[in-house]
This record gives sequence, structure tokens and C-alpha cells, in this order.
Amino acid sequence: MYRTYNCGSLRMNHVGEEVILSGWVQATRQFGGLTFVDLRDRYGITQLVFNEEDDAELSKRATNLGREFVIKAQGQVRERSNKNPNRPTGDIEIEVTRLDVINPSKVPPFTIEDESDGGDDLRMKYRYLDMRRNPVKDKILFRSKVALEVRKYLTQEDFVEVETPCLIKSTPEGARDFVVPSRMNPGQFYALPQSPQTFKQILMVAGFDRYFQIVKCFRDEDLRADRQPEFTQIDCEMAFVTQDQILQTFEGLTRYLFREILQLELDEFPRMTFDEAISKYGSDKPDLRFDMIFNDLTTHAQGHGFQVFDQAEIVLGIVAEGQADHYSNKDINALTDWVRRPQIGAKGMVYVKWNADGSFKSSIGKFYSDETLEKWAIDCGAKKGDLLLILSGETDSTRKQMSELRLEMGRRLKLLDPKVFKPLWVIDFPLLEWDEESGRFHAMHHPFTSPKSTDISKMLTGDHETMKSLRADAYDLVINGVEIGGGSIRIHDRILQEKNFKLLGFSPEEAERQFGFLMGAFEYGAPPHGGIAFGFDRLCAVMKGSTSIRDFIAFPKNNMGRDMMIDAPSEIDEKQLQELSLRLRESS
Ligand code: AMO
Repeated sequence: MYRTYNCGSLRMNHVGEEVILSGWVQATRQFGGLTFVDLRDRYGITQLVFNEEDDAELSKRATNLGREFVIKAQGQVRERSNKNPNRPTGDIEIEVTRLDVINPSKVPPFTIEDESDGGDDLRMKYRYLDMRRNPVKDKILFRSKVALEVRKYLTQEDFVEVETPCLIKSTPEGARDFVVPSRMNPGQFYALPQSPQTFKQILMVAGFDRYFQIVKCFRDEDLRADRQPEFTQIDCEMAFVTQDQILQTFEGLTRYLFREILQLELDEFPRMTFDEAISKYGSDKPDLRFDMIFNDLTTHAQGHGFQVFDQAEIVLGIVAEGQADHYSNKDINALTDWVRRPQIGAKGMVYVKWNADGSFKSSIGKFYSDETLEKWAIDCGAKKGDLLLILSGETDSTRKQMSELRLEMGRRLKLLDPKVFKPLWVIDFPLLEWDEESGRFHAMHHPFTSPKSTDISKMLTGDHETMKSLRADAYDLVINGVEIGGGSIRIHDRILQEKNFKLLGFSPEEAERQFGFLMGAFEYGAPPHGGIAFGFDRLCAVMKGSTSIRDFIAFPKNNMGRDMMIDAPSEIDEKQLQELSLRLRESS
């Protein structure tokens, strides 16, 4: 037998009991004739003690144990004289009478402790060692718990779990596809799903009514802290529902998860249109943990001889409460440098300090009187002691820059409390998005998203501004500035779907070739339907107050899309290439 208990379970009520434990050596310490070994497994750490006076030979073997050796120890539980209140097992220790080394270990390349000395790539190469550390282990265990609760809630709500294939035809979710060559069909390729979108719609036509799947999705896009090339969705679809019913159901799921797992009751889930989010926060995923909304100062600012504002399309201001005194000239200059960085791209920043004594100090004081500045400040909802930060320029880019500045101020003023959760539904997204590079419109969500019924008649007018104004029954769930999920009511009618493909620049032949199967299904009694997919990795990270999804994934990829442990991607041999009818391109 390897163990009678795990390393996290022994307490005072076990004192006197003969036990066997197995696990990994976390650390060994010697005090005079006593040797202490911290034995670790998934459940915790238990202290083993060896006394030289009782058994010199056994004690010597204990001192020779290396870090991460796998051992088995037998002995009696006894009360510790020097208790450790920081450990659940800290009241007891095991007086060992028998020790077996099950498997020795090389010295690990980094310390297996909460704060490790290992760099990212090294820890990813030895992911099995990294996962022994509490911060990583806890995240993987947390993820498992969330998955279980998701299944419980959705099953209770009559959702059926259905698996959809991984070797499919391209689904246009906006990223590049990963492709897999087919040996049996030379020159042809499968695509890995960017999402199971078309399959879940087909399941609605098949009558399953409510579907879910915790499913791997693959997207070949540039990576960031909240993006991985393979990630997991909680993918859902419902038939015979309105948008409101979908939002209610998934608000319910979110509330349930926070309640069951974090013992937290979430506040209301406000709904905000896309247009409102953009004009108030410059972002379709605003972080509502703090206010600092945008104030449009354009009309106030223009016509006073200040060229920069006079030539701007928009002048926007935000209020940093109580910061007039705290921001010295040096701080303002540093902040100006920050907005000027290429990643943000602002040309400059104007400030107005409304000092506590009622006076004004501003970088544009010679163009505007104190009375004018006071009017701005009052219009922005500011009071004495506040600092106004102002950016101007072309509308879209100024909003983006201001959104970054707002978040930066949130960070600097410590307004982004990781323990506070502010959910938000962003609704009424545009149907289309103009892509400068290709000079055409793309679907903002995906091509199966339904336009608002009021906008259907305007779809094929062909006028650029009208196209931009079309709105969709599409929505996102945002928590603390992170897009947790996105979904829409779908088109379920062949004619409207054809019209939408036409709008997106597909020829009828191209639409038929790529999506004939779906449009064909719509001709056999497709129910009205809609759905949503949550980013599962992101949901876990946000619930734990983390900005990176990487450690919530057992085996993540690095920023170059590489798995450092198995060293993938890798070359394949000539024979495999030939079987797949693939030729390496001649090097020039
Ligand atoms: P969408 O493309 O919005 O919608 O994706 C849904 C959610 O998946 C998460 N997500 C990602 N997470 C980690 N890494 C990535 N590379 C990544 N890309 C997306 C986000 C996002 O909100 N089929 C539609 C859903 C639907 O309409 O029902 C879809 O995939 O949290």
C-alpha cells in the first residue's frame, strides 16, 4: 500500500495513529539530531520527523533525500511542539519508522515554490514541475470546478451536451484557420474549427432545442495575454428564444457560477448599446469598476484660437477625481509621454487642474479664461480639487486613445479592484465592420448573425453610410473590461442568409460552395434560434482576478504559438509529406 492518508488530511484527532504517506520531498531541514522533511502532494504538506537517537541509519537516509524525490513514509502521528498555524496540518507531524525512496529526482531547474525563480519558457518546458507549484495547480483545479458547475447548471436548464467534429470546413469567425491535410483526398484540407458555429445551428434544425459543449476552438491569430491559438468555449445554442431569454439564461449561468464557486452575489447586469459604450468609454468592452466616462468638449473647445482643438474632429475629457494636487508637472509630463507612445499614438495631452482653492492651472490657459475652464469642468461633473485630462483629434482614434488613458488612470489610481466584479451586456452591435486593408465590409460577429428586423429592408441599398448604420441582434458579455462571451440571434431563413452573404461580397456560387449545407438545412424547417459562447479560459481567469489565461490552461502555448514541452510545431519527415501530397517549397 502506498498511502493510508494524503498529505493534506491529518489533524490532532489522528494523533497516535500509525499511517503511511507518499508524496514529493518539498524540503529537508536539520536541527541537531533531528531531520525534518516536508512531504507534499496535491492536497497539502505534512511534516515528517526523523530522530538520530532513535534510528541513526534511517535518519541518515532522510538527510540524503533530494528535492522532488518521491518517497513513502510510515510512522505515528504526534502533536508538534512547535506548531505551524499557516498550514492545515501544522498541528501534527509523523515520527517516521520506515522510509522508502520510490523514485529519486534530478535537481529541478527552478524552485517548486509559490514564487519560482524560473523564467516563462523554462517553466513551460518543464510544465509538469510548474504544475506542482500552488499558483498553477490551484488554477487548474479551479478550472475543473468551474467546468463541473457549468455542466450542472446547463443540464438543469435542459441543455444537451453534444460533441461536434474537429476536422471540418472553415468557419469564418474572423481569424485564420489551422488546416490539416487529408491523405485520402490529395490536395485537400480540413480546417480545425474556430468555433462549432454552423454545427450548433444545424443541431437546432435537427430539433435538439438546447445545446451546449465545452469545446476546443482553434484560431491562428496573434497571441496576447488573453488569447491562445487553441482555447476553450462554453458553446451554447437555443431554439425558439428571444434575445432577452438568451441574456437571462446566461446571466443566470454567470450568477450561479459566482455564487457556487466564489460565494459572491453579483449586482445587476446592466445593458448598454454598442454606440453608448463607444461614446462613453471608447470601447465595446468597458471596465465598469470605475466611472470616468468621456465628456465631449468639442463645442466648448472650438473657436477660441487654439489650433489643435479647432482642427480636431472631437475633443474629449475625463475627470480624475481629487488629483489636481497629486499630479505635479513632472507627473503630467510622464503621462503625456505615456499617451504619446506608439502603442497609444496620441499627439499630446491637455490638462486642466481645478485647484482646491478654486483657481485653474492648465496647459492651454492662454487660450481659455478661467470662467470657460470652469464651465468645462462643471459640464464634466468635476469639482474643486479634480484634474481634467483632454485628448483631441480624429473621432475613432481619439476615443481609442482616451479609452487607454482611462484604463491607465484606473490602474494608477488603484480603481481596478480584482475582488470587485462588474458585469455588463453590450447589445445592438453593428452588423458590419469596414476593413481598410481589404477595402470591404466584414461581418462584425459572424455571417450567420441576424440584422435587426427594422434594418433588413436597408440591407442591400449599397450605400456605405447605410451599411455602417445597420445593427444586429448581437451581444457580448463583458466582466471587468474583458469580453467573456459573444453571441447573436441567427438568420434561419435561406433568402435572408443569401442576402447577407451578398452584402459581405460573396458571389452566389462562393456562398453555396462554402455554406450550401447550412442554407440547405434552412429549407427543411429551421426554427428561429440564437446562442452565445463564453471564453472558458477567460471566464476562469476573470473569476480569479487574473489578466492572463495561460495558467488556467494545463498545457498552454507561448507567444510564438509553441508548446515548449513537446517542442511543437515541428518538421515532419519526407515520407509523411509525400503521403499527404505536400511538397516543401524549393528554397530560393
Ligand atoms: P466569439 O468569436 O466572440 O464568438 O468567441 C466567443 C468567446 O471566446 C473567447 N475567445 C478566446 N479566448 C481565448 N483565446 C482566443 N484566441 C479567443 N478567441 C475568442 C472570448 C469570446 O468572447 N461562434 C461565436 C459564438 C456565438 O455566436 O454563439 C463565437 O465564437 O471570450
